[in-house]
Amino acid sequence: MTTKKHACPTYPHFLHGADYNPEQWIHDKSIWDKDMELMQLANCNEMTVGIFSWAKLEPQEGQFDFSFLDEIIDRVGKNGGKVILSTPSGARPHWLADKYPEVLRVGPDGVREHFRERHNHCFTSPVYREKVQIINRKLAERYGQNPTVVAWHISNEYSGDCRCPLCQQAFRDFLRKKYDNDINKLNLAYWTTFWSKTFDSFDQIEPPGKYTETGLHGLNLDWRRFVTAQTMSFIENETAPIRELSPHLPVTINMMFEFYDLNYHEVSKVIDIASWDSYPEWHNGDDADIAQKTAFWHDLYRSLKKRPFLLMESTPSLVNWKPYNKPKRPGLDVLSSIQAVAHGSDSVQYFQWRKSRGSSEKFHGAVVGHDGTGETRVFRSVQKTGEVLKAIDQIAGTVTDAKAAVIFDWENMWALDNCQGYALAGKKYWETCYAFHKVFWQRGIDCDIVSPKADLSGYQIVAAPMLYLTDEETVENLTSFVENGGTLCGTYMLGTVDGTDLCWLGGIPAGKLKDVFGITAEEIDTLYPVERQHAQLFGKEHELVDYCEVIHPSSAQVLASYTDGYYAGTPAVTINSYGKGQAVYIACRDTGSMKDDLFDHLLGNIGLAGNLADSSLPHGVTAHSRTNGETSYLFLENYDPASTADVTLKQPMTDLLTGETVHHVTLPPYSFRIFKS
Ligand code: GLA
Ligand code: GLA
Repeated sequence: MTTKKHACPTYPHFLHGADYNPEQWIHDKSIWDKDMELMQLANCNEMTVGIFSWAKLEPQEGQFDFSFLDEIIDRVGKNGGKVILSTPSGARPHWLADKYPEVLRVGPDGVREHFRERHNHCFTSPVYREKVQIINRKLAERYGQNPTVVAWHISNEYSGDCRCPLCQQAFRDFLRKKYDNDINKLNLAYWTTFWSKTFDSFDQIEPPGKYTETGLHGLNLDWRRFVTAQTMSFIENETAPIRELSPHLPVTINMMFEFYDLNYHEVSKVIDIASWDSYPEWHNGDDADIAQKTAFWHDLYRSLKKRPFLLMESTPSLVNWKPYNKPKRPGLDVLSSIQAVAHGSDSVQYFQWRKSRGSSEKFHGAVVGHDGTGETRVFRSVQKTGEVLKAIDQIAGTVTDAKAAVIFDWENMWALDNCQGYALAGKKYWETCYAFHKVFWQRGIDCDIVSPKADLSGYQIVAAPMLYLTDEETVENLTSFVENGGTLCGTYMLGTVDGTDLCWLGGIPAGKLKDVFGITAEEIDTLYPVERQHAQLFGKEHELVDYCEVIHPSSAQVLASYTDGYYAGTPAVTINSYGKGQAVYIACRDTGSMKDDLFDHLLGNIGLAGNLADSSLPHGVTAHSRTNGETSYLFLENYDPASTADVTLKQPMTDLLTGETVHHVTLPPYSFRIFKS
C-alpha cells in the first residue's frame, strides 16, 4: 500500500510559484501579458495572490470591486497555472483605520499606532474581525469553487500583540477561565507575595509592557499563551466563512524562521497544512551550518502536521532587509530550493514574482527583475528548479519516516527568557536545539522537531535539550517514551519549573524523571564566556562551555566525568535503564565533539543508521529520504562551496534526473542528486 499525503490534495503535484502582486501594475496590463508569458518560461505552475489587495478589493467600506482578481485568476488558470488565494487581513485599507481606530494596535508603551506599515491589527477588535469576515466571505463565495484555486493562504505572517483596552479585557477573561475565576489561585501560581504583588481582583491585571509588570514569570508566560490563543481565535474567525464555502480547500498560514511570538505547536491545530517563509543568510559563514539550521526549520514545519508542508516564500536571489544582502551563489539557489523538498516540502515558492517598482521591497529579490525579461541568472535558476520539480513529480505527497526527534518548545523558550538566573545574556536555547539536530543532520539521519507533548511512540531516540519548563503532562510523556523502549537524552536544566513557571520542589529533574534518569541535579555552574572546562568520555577529553551541572547518580551509570572545576571527578554524562528503554543525562554544554562521540555510541547501540552506507559524511554533505511506503526517495546535498565529496549509497539506486543506476556518487560543491529505490 502506498501512502501519500499531498500538502494540497486539490493539486497532487509540486507547486512552483511565487507571491504575485499584479494589483501594483493595474495601470499597465502589458505587464500582466508579459507575466503570463514569463511564468510559462520559468516553469512556474502556481501564483499566490491577494495577500495585500484589500484596498483594491474594497476601496471604500462596503464597495467591492473584484475585477482585477477575476481577471488574474482567469489568466493564471488559462495559462495552465494554479492559484493559492490569500485573505487580505495582513494590511488594511486606509478608510478602515480612519473610521474604526480600534483596529489599530496599542504597543507595549500603551500608545496606539497610526495607520502605517502592515501586520499590525488588533486581534481582538470585533470591528476588525467583522470586516475581515465580510471580505473573506465575499472571496470564498466568488472563488471558493473556482478550479484554479487550490488552497487558502490566511493573512500574512501573523505576529506581535496588542495591549488596547479590548485586548486587556480579553486577557483578563482568559485568566479568569484558566484560574477558575479564583484570584488566589492566580496569586499562588504567580507567586505574587514576592515583592507584595498580590492581586485583589482580575481587573487589576495588565499585560506585561514597557510601564507595566514584567517581574511575574507566570504572568509573562500566560500573556504569551493568551497571544497565541487570541491569534488562533482570530484565524478561526477568518477561516469560518472559507471552511463553510470551500471545505475541500486546505488552509495554511505562512510561518517564520526563529519565530518567537506564537507557539506554532498550538497554532498549527487551526490550519490544515503548514507553510513557511525561509530566508537564510547564505554565505555568511559556513554554508553547511546555515543549511543545517535551515533544515531544522524545514523539519519543524513538516513535523507540525506530520505531513508534507509548503515552502511558501524564499528569495530566488537576495532579501533587502538584512544588514547585508548577498545574492545566492550559482548552484546554491537551486540546491536550497531542493533542500526544502528533501525535508518534505510539496512546493518551492518565492517572494516575489516581479519586483515592485517602488516602496519598501523594490530591491528585494524576485523571479522577474526591473529589466522585465527572462534573461537573468536568477530567472534561469528558477527555470532550472522548475525543470527538476517536473522531473521528480512522483515524489510530491510522499512522507518522511523519521526515527529520531528533537524536542523544541515555545513555552520552554519563553520560560527560559523569563528566568533570571543561569546566564542572563541569552541562554542559547535555539543554538542548543540546533546542536542536537546537527548530530542527526551530519549523519544523514531524518529527524523530526516536536513538542514535548507530541506522540513520541514512533521514535527510537529523542533529544530534549534544556527542557527547563517541564509540566506534569510532559513528565508523563517522557517517562512513557522511555518505559516503552525509547532512548531519551535530557540535559542540564531539565525539569526545573512547572507549567506556571514555579520551581519544582523535592529535587530536580521533576518528579519521577529522577527515577527515569537515575540522577538528581544539585546546582549549575554558569561559566564566564572565556572559561572552558572539560569532561572525559570514553577516554577522550572534550571541551565544555557555558553550563556544568553538578549531578548525583542514584541508579545511573556514569559515561563521562568532569576533569576540572570543583566538581572534577563527578559525573558529566550518565545513562540509566528504565522500563524497556534508557535515559541519558548530559549535565553540561559541550562544543560538539563530546556529543559526536556520545551519539555515535548511542546510535550504534540502538541500531539507528543514516540514509547512506556510512554515517560519517564529508563536511557539508547530508542525505534525507521521503517514501510512499513502497518506494524510497533519497536526496543527497553538498553545501560545501569548494569541495567535491564522494559517498556510497546503501545499495545501487536510480538517479531520477539522469536515469542512471549508481552505487558510488561524486557530489560537486553546491550540488544535489535525487535517487529512487
Ligand atoms: C539586591 C536586592 C535583593 C535581591 C538581590 C539579588 O541586593 O536588594 O532584593 O534582588 O539584589 O541579587
Ligand atoms: C515576508 C513577507 C513578504 C515579504 C518578504 C520579504 O516573508 O511575508 O511579504 O515582505 O518577507 O523577504
